[in-house]
Amino acid sequence: MTINTVPTQPIEGQVPGTSGLRKKVEVFADPGYLETYTQAIFNAIQPRGKELVLGGDGRFFNREAMQTILRMAAANGVARVIVGQNGILSTPAASHLIRKRAAFGGLILSASHNPGGPKGDFGLKYNIANGGPAPEDITDTIVACAQNIDAYYIANGEAPSLSTIGESQLGDMVIEVVDPVDDYAALMAELFNFTAIRSLIASGFTLRFDAMHAVTGPYATEILVNRLGAPAKSVLNGTPSEDFGGGHPDPNPVWAKPLFDLLHGPEAPDFGAASDGDGDRNMILGRDIYVTPSDSLAVLAANAHLVPGYAGGITGVARSMPTSAASDRVAEALGIEAFQTPTGWKYFGTLLDAGRATLCGEESAGTGSNHVREKDGLWAVLLWLNILAVKRQSVKQILTDHWAKFGRDYYSRHDYESIDSTAANALMSELKSNLAALPGQKAAGLVIKSAEDFAYTDPISGAATTGQGVILTYEGGARAMLRLSGTGTEGATLRVYLEQYAPPGAALDRDAQDALSAVIAATKAVARIPEHTGRDHPDVIS
Ligand code: G1P
Ligand code: ZN
Repeated sequence: MTINTVPTQPIEGQVPGTSGLRKKVEVFADPGYLETYTQAIFNAIQPRGKELVLGGDGRFFNREAMQTILRMAAANGVARVIVGQNGILSTPAASHLIRKRAAFGGLILSASHNPGGPKGDFGLKYNIANGGPAPEDITDTIVACAQNIDAYYIANGEAPSLSTIGESQLGDMVIEVVDPVDDYAALMAELFNFTAIRSLIASGFTLRFDAMHAVTGPYATEILVNRLGAPAKSVLNGTPSEDFGGGHPDPNPVWAKPLFDLLHGPEAPDFGAASDGDGDRNMILGRDIYVTPSDSLAVLAANAHLVPGYAGGITGVARSMPTSAASDRVAEALGIEAFQTPTGWKYFGTLLDAGRATLCGEESAGTGSNHVREKDGLWAVLLWLNILAVKRQSVKQILTDHWAKFGRDYYSRHDYESIDSTAANALMSELKSNLAALPGQKAAGLVIKSAEDFAYTDPISGAATTGQGVILTYEGGARAMLRLSGTGTEGATLRVYLEQYAPPGAALDRDAQDALSAVIAATKAVARIPEHTGRDHPDVIS
């Protein structure tokens, strides 16, 4: 094998966000770009003689990128790459495979829920040996390496086809192609009572899982249909496509509207769920009810002990800062620890490794547990199904009972998308410079109790992170959080997260936007959102 040393392409200002590097396909496909970033990862992690897992969500450019990365892995001395057949692995399945095979780490090719296709997005992320996203010290090293690089190494010739399961060689490196679903399905069968879910379905319980033309189609068909006996029509949009059928594979009421409408219409099944491009996000619906991700985490925490994988109880619940406090209330009632971390799954890794948290969740449709080190869409669906199989109540009943016991955290996220980056930064810095003056002030009738720029020190590693978003708390149980997205690829996105607690006994069935109207108005005024963004309304309300 000849190894080529090729000059790199400058990676300017390409700082990986909460989930690795995400850019437009045309940026990644620009000759030398993917290569430079991949070499920066290799320079940072030094994988010579090691085993890596490689997989992607199958989006446009996945195949070409796999070829390049395999040839570069060989040239960088990697001993073995374990890769999903046809280059496919959902993100949670990749996380599981890294752990199961005790690999050195893994490369995941995905831009998650961002649109795919030639005009869409692509992404590359490095996960460490625990199966989780690389922590900040490693991503910082990757960034530093990307800025100090003048050559990449690539083996000549083509990498072997990934369509057949089995082993082949590329130079000295072994390429092992594995079935993408098998190991993951086996893990789910260990955690959940498949017999109970099977009999729930056999009793006439109906469900629809929307794979959104993305990676979970084959996983859902194997687990829900083949193993749990759901009729084939239960899986919607189950054939993955390179551009996700032209849609946004993002499981929320906006992008999964057909499913949302189905569950609110006359033909509603008992249960509805969806997952995203790479299979780590989830949306949960019952007949005539949408379960917010924050509420879902709380309900799962309160009921996890009903399921074999968590029968011994859970040790703690971790949620990202902008996720509602609903799960904190459950943790308090259970007498277990509750953690508030910065946005991004990587901050849960140390808590899961140390056994301090068992369940984790983010308001952005991410829920997971210590079974892998990523959020896991189908896992959340199966946990709900197992709980439903035990309780034999409707989703609505479970949620209503939960609120009656713990109170309800009305919650919504308002996104201002594709705003001018300078304006977005000005908004955040103005707000941050005013923080000390805010407590005691009144905005739109609400009194500000406290204002902080969220900083976090990892209780296990001691790693400190600052500037993770502004938290405003108001008297009367309202809270607002503001931060700029780290995953967008066009301009800036301002996320405003809004929450209002209603204790047991208060009105628990109000419309969320209505229940949040005071905190919405107050936060708009405090951060001068219309003045900075030129917008009076958010683009997306979820
Ligand atoms: C978004 C979500 C965040 C999640 C990340 C990766 O990041 O808000 O919770 O961890 O995607 O899926 P953001 O665009 O807000 O930086
Ligand atoms: Zn995702």
